[in-house]
Parts: sequence; structure tokens; C-alpha cells
Amino acid sequence: MHIEVLPVTVDDIDSLTTLARRIWLATYSKIISPAQIDYMLAQRYAPQRLREELNLPTIWWDQARVDGRLAGFASCVQLLERREMKIDKLYVDPDHQRQGLGGRLLAAVAAHAQTTDCQTLILAVNKRNAPAIAAYRRYGFVIREEVCIDIGGGFVMDDYLMARPLLPAISRDR
Ligand SMILES: CC(C)(COP(=O)(O)OP(=O)(O)OC[C@H]1O[C@@H](n2cnc3c(N)ncnc32)[C@H](O)[C@@H]1OP(=O)(O)O)[C@@H](O)C(=O)NCCC(=O)NCCS
Repeated sequence: MHIEVLPVTVDDIDSLTTLARRIWLATYSKIISPAQIDYMLAQRYAPQRLREELNLPTIWWDQARVDGRLAGFASCVQLLERREMKIDKLYVDPDHQRQGLGGRLLAAVAAHAQTTDCQTLILAVNKRNAPAIAAYRRYGFVIREEVCIDIGGGFVMDDYLMARPLLPAISRDR
């Protein structure tokens, strides 16, 4: 199995949005309603929004490919005033979970953070997404606080905000 982590390009947008829907249905169908999944996918993965994000200097998108095929992706955003890097998305194809791809994508995020003055990695994870919380704990994150955010459309995100210092480095290998 050959794993590569590369920047996302505009040519990857279609396959990335297709993969995102597949992972979201597998992950969130038992956690949030189908209507909320559709709403959040439309909000976060609209092709025009992705094209804009790919051009922003404070947002990084990375993809993981297994034997040449897209199998996961991550995005992170630099929160300039807080000196924090927020992992906005981290998603691995269900067929390739627990093969180290999440760790590889996180290492790429950490590498981006090291080019900035960020000292902390943060993320928000649904309180009921126990497998992801377990993975984040394994990567060294701890729960900092609970956050419940109104995202419009009658929906909320009921999350834990998790954080870890940028150093020590996240290992690229397992
Ligand atoms: C959470 C996620 C990103 C982790 O990525 P991954 O490539 O599957 O995980 P890794 O192979 O890097 O796992 C590293 C370690 O985390 C822990 N871990 C990962 N997935 C886990 C799970 N489902 N249950 C318990 N522990 C888990 C394990 O300790 C694992 O090491 P091990 O396999 O040697 O025991 C991935 O499973 C995923 O995309 N899940 C669905 C989408 C999602 O919930 N994303 C997060 C949104 S905030």
C-alpha cells in the first residue's frame, strides 16, 4: 500500500466532495439528522467555497492518496490572533480507516502550523463521535471545553473543542 499526502488542487474538488458525502453518511447518520448532513455538506463543501479556500493564504487543504486514489483529506485554518491552527476537517475513507492516514494528514497540518507562529492545534468534534474522539486522544489532544454553536437552518453543532500543543511533533509513522 503506497500512501502519499499532497496538497489538494482545483482538479480534486469533484472527487473530494463525493468522498466527503460518503464519509459523512458513514460517520454522522447515527449522530445527526439526514437534513443536517445535507445542510452542512452544502455549507462546507460547495465547489465555489472550496475554490476560494484553495486560494487563501491562511487555509491549507491536504489529501491522502492510497495507491493513487483519493482516500482522505484535511483542512486547517490559521487563527491569527490566537496563534492557533484549527483543524477544520479531517476525514478518511471508511475503507481506509485505522491505516495511519489520519495520523499522516495530521502531521501535514502540524507541518503547516510550524511555518506560522501557531503554538497550538485545536479542533471541534461532535460530542457523540466517540471513535474520532478516541483517535484525537491518541494523537495527544485533550478536551478544552464544550461548545454548542448555532449554524443556522435550525441546527446546532454540539461539540467538544480539543487542543494539543504543536510540539512535540505528531509522528508521520506509526
Ligand atoms: C477519526 C479519523 C480521522 C482517524 O483517522 P484514521 O486514519 O482512521 O486513524 P489512524 O489510523 O491515524 O489511527 C491512529 C490511532 O487513533 C486511534 N483510533 C483511530 N480510530 C479509532 C476508532 N474508530 N476507535 C478507537 N480508536 C481509534 C487508535 O489508537 C489508532 O491507532 P491503532 O489503529 O494503531 O490502534 C478517521 O477514522 C475518520 O475519518 N473518521 C470518520 C470521520 C470523522 O469522524 N472525522 C473527524 C471529524 S471531527
